[in-house]
Amino acid sequence: MITTSAGSCEKDNELTDKQPAAAPLEALLGIARDLTASLAAEDRYARLLDAVRRVVPCDAACLMRVEGDELVPLAAHGLVPEALVRRYPRRDHPRLDVILRASEPVRFPADSGLPDPFDGLLDADPHALEHIHACLGCRLTEGGEVVGALTADALEPHAFDGLDPRMLATLGALAGAAMRTTELIDALEQLAERRGRVARDLQRSAALSSGGELVGSGAAMRRVHEEIDLVADSALAVLITGETGVGKELVARQIHAASLRRDEALIHVNCAALPESIAESELFGHVAGAFTGAARERAGKFEIADRGTLLLDEIGELPLSLQPKLLRALQQGEIQRVGSDRTHRVDVRVIAATNRDLEREVGRGRFRADLYHRLAVYPLRVPPLRERREDIGLLASRFLDEARRRLGLGPVRLAAAARDSLVEAEWPGNVRELENVLSRAVLRAARGRARGESVLVEPQHLDLARSPARAATPAPADPEPADVVPLRQRVQDFQRQAVLDAVERTGGNWAAAARDLGMHRSNLHHLARRLGLPMPGRGQDR
Ligand SMILES: Nc1ncnc2c1ncn2[C@@H]1O[C@H](COP(=O)(O)OP(=O)(O)OP(=O)(O)O)[C@@H](O)[C@H]1O
Ligand SMILES: [Mg+2]
Repeated sequence: MITTSAGSCEKDNELTDKQPAAAPLEALLGIARDLTASLAAEDRYARLLDAVRRVVPCDAACLMRVEGDELVPLAAHGLVPEALVRRYPRRDHPRLDVILRASEPVRFPADSGLPDPFDGLLDADPHALEHIHACLGCRLTEGGEVVGALTADALEPHAFDGLDPRMLATLGALAGAAMRTTELIDALEQLAERRGRVARDLQRSAALSSGGELVGSGAAMRRVHEEIDLVADSALAVLITGETGVGKELVARQIHAASLRRDEALIHVNCAALPESIAESELFGHVAGAFTGAARERAGKFEIADRGTLLLDEIGELPLSLQPKLLRALQQGEIQRVGSDRTHRVDVRVIAATNRDLEREVGRGRFRADLYHRLAVYPLRVPPLRERREDIGLLASRFLDEARRRLGLGPVRLAAAARDSLVEAEWPGNVRELENVLSRAVLRAARGRARGESVLVEPQHLDLARSPARAATPAPADPEPADVVPLRQRVQDFQRQAVLDAVERTGGNWAAAARDLGMHRSNLHHLARRLGLPMPGRGQDR
């Protein structure tokens, strides 16, 4: 053991005499055992410190990690809570600097003039460390690298005189190994957490993008396909614009699927669903304790999308307050978790989508011009459905077929007159509206049909005037206010949709659907008949 002035090691056996000889050994063995035990990081550090206290009789002890030129406490005993949230720069704390330089444990003379890093922070008597006291420390190394330090203070000036230097050195070596192990485990846990979140996001997007293929072979959609092929391979940021329901999200998925990042994740963020209060943490993550409710450290969407693609959907709704942070992340490829002062590098390709006219939003001061230019390196407009009526027939076949499968029907055909009115309609809600109109039409056309029977969709089944998208923007020529839908009918529409969703969720198993809806099977049958839903055939009602 190094002592910074001569003569303080005389009473070598004083302390060991007071303790059972086996205690230090037991404590060291405890640390060694913990190395392989499965414990949470905080538990590991607390146990390590416990073991230290059994070996070194002290009033305060602290386990610290080296981070650059600073020491950061991981666990402490006998210090006020504030001591744990401070950082200790080496240059401001000469005792810590001495400890980190010395290859062996250091014992400071009781009357050392060097300030104690924990002066004012002692739990029992805040300023006791200003006066004569015992202090020792040893640096922790692992694989030849200094990873941290262990310190102990005692008010009794001779408290450490009898400690065996070899035992202290062993303690330091074990503590270094324990600390590195804990950090490795922590890093692995974080990686696992990230992987888990990627998997969940992937599952979610797979569920959302059922079908997934971009239908349409007319000139307008061919141009969109060409643009997708052109831009996919580049790393350029793409801004997809177009009215609601035109297929912007589908286009974004297509770009990712055709890009070099196709084997990594496409992470979807709906900016419209991000309340300002959590938006930053959702995008960039947070550290534990960053705000009320942030119990654990959590990665944000940017980190999850690392090496993949981030789809910033409804980007026009992103709160202004967050726009500079997003801009910085895009410009520097660096993000900072909320509450952390460390930056992480991320490699993310960004695709943004919006149905707003972002240029106009910039003009109105609702969107930052610099962010707009950063996002719109390659602008891609998806045309509304009324500009590509040639695709309506193909899209209709696709949606009829999906409805047929969902409802377990026989062949579904579209009457020529019904097809004509689809082609002529205005479609303010675009492809989404077409999809909804057709699922409702199939439902009506199939009313009372047995499972497996063929179905013909006729104009009266389409009920185009009632489409909610139309109700939102009533055509001036419309003689009847479109939003007058009797409550009873709205309730029935809702019930019908709930039943269908349940049947679909359970893969056509009506008994399970009944359980899902919290009702008896026979009541579900009764309700389905009343709502005119196609009923399961024999043997299908498992
Ligand atoms: N070309 C297409 N082929 C097949 N399905 C399509 C096509 N375009 C859109 N859809 C379907 O229409 C629906 C709406 O598409 P999507 O969610 O991509 O629209 P959006 O432009 O993002 O709309 P919003 O602005 O309202 O978010 C989805 O169910 C999608 O699968
Ligand atoms: Mg969308």
